[in-house]
Amino acid sequence: MDHPIPIAPSSSPLQRTTSKSGSYPPVPSVCVVTGGTGFVGCRLVEMLVERGASKVISFDVVPPPKDAWHHPNIEWRVGDITDKQAVDELLSTPNIGCVWHNAAAVGPFHPKPLYYKVNYEGTQNIIESAKKYGINKIVFSSSPSTRFTGVDVDGLTEEEMPSLPLDNYMQTYAETKAMGEMEISKVCTNEFMTVAVAPHQVYGPRDNLFLPNLLEAAMNGKLRVFGKGYNRICFTHVDNYCHGLIIAEKALYPDSPALGKFYIVTDGKTHPEGEQYLIFWKILDEAIVGMGFPSLWGKAHLPKGLLLFIASICDVLQKIFGIILKLNTFNVIVLTMHRWFDIKAAETDLKFEPIIGFREGWDETIVWFRENWLPKQSKSKGLGGIAKTTQSKIDIQDESSKKVR
Ligand SMILES: NC(=O)c1ccc[n+]([C@@H]2O[C@H](COP(=O)([O-])OP(=O)(O)OC[C@H]3O[C@@H](n4cnc5c(N)ncnc54)[C@H](O)[C@@H]3O)[C@@H](O)[C@H]2O)c1
Repeated sequence: MDHPIPIAPSSSPLQRTTSKSGSYPPVPSVCVVTGGTGFVGCRLVEMLVERGASKVISFDVVPPPKDAWHHPNIEWRVGDITDKQAVDELLSTPNIGCVWHNAAAVGPFHPKPLYYKVNYEGTQNIIESAKKYGINKIVFSSSPSTRFTGVDVDGLTEEEMPSLPLDNYMQTYAETKAMGEMEISKVCTNEFMTVAVAPHQVYGPRDNLFLPNLLEAAMNGKLRVFGKGYNRICFTHVDNYCHGLIIAEKALYPDSPALGKFYIVTDGKTHPEGEQYLIFWKILDEAIVGMGFPSLWGKAHLPKGLLLFIASICDVLQKIFGIILKLNTFNVIVLTMHRWFDIKAAETDLKFEPIIGFREGWDETIVWFRENWLPKQSKSKGLGGIAKTTQSKIDIQDESSKKVR
């Protein structure tokens, strides 16, 4: 017998089974997702419809991909959150139950001014318009990198991490996401309720940033294990993150402990051996070998000190020539440090638990990349630039922001 709920056609077998078999709380009838054509946003739009939303408006500067779900309950609206008028039009839609503010200039590869404009000013526009049109719930997608100082994060809770604002941020992305998050938490009251939810290292089918960039470097023989290779980190399946974002809306009620707070959600205790982390380079190597590329472990590891020295030269070259290189100081630090969290606050306050376990999620992601990503690749002769799909999205986002006054 067919299941009564609609299921996104481009979701993976595991995503379908999880959507069909789970029993999830109801979602607002009318939902807005900014950044709805991105990796996370696209899945969030789909999951909101799968969980019963009658109207989900995706608002993104990048048009929906070819395989986007053309379901009558989804409106794929192309627009820019830095354009106040467009945001006003968006949020004047009647009966919006919640805005999932997910749009951002993501990753380390954008021009600097774009981060401020999108991640900070864009967030201010969302807050202003939401207030103006009487919307009373915003769930903000934040990032743990807002709290990174370059020191190991080895199993900390949100409260044990540095509080915002930091004196120094490791990158403009982190700084501007922190600025956006602080605006979001500052305006939170019992009448205008907000919460910030952050994943760590999102993976899954249709990822266009994290895995494709590392796999492309591995394919071109340009990747080696950084340092000893035993740094511990945590991952978040895209469905687990979207689940966390969706149920965070349920935690927005007057006097809720979640009001104005910041939570991290990950694959939690489904990480290997019941811990909340994995060994980054070993797990990445599984994906590399899964593509049929040679294992990184068999090759010489690159000493961290040497990498930092070369990366500092790359930083200077980037500044002088305005080029984008994968090897930079930030990347060396994050790829060698411990980065994992204890997510008990999200478990307690949001009632979060992963809906897809790490092992099955990672195995399926590897299969997905082998079937969908690998056949489209050709060995590049470039000098460490970024993956083509990543670059084409960055170009659209940058172009749009130049048009908005
Ligand atoms: N992927 C991760 O590992 C990760 C980790 C921590 C936090 N996050 C957060 O999750 C959210 C989603 O990230 P993602 O991985 O899906 O990245 P993504 O780049 O795929 O999605 C972001 C989307 O925002 C859109 N966008 C950018 N500028 C815009 C603008 N001016 N107006 C409207 N839309 C705009 C982009 O076009 C893109 O589709 C972001 O807020 C990000 O900070 C992601």
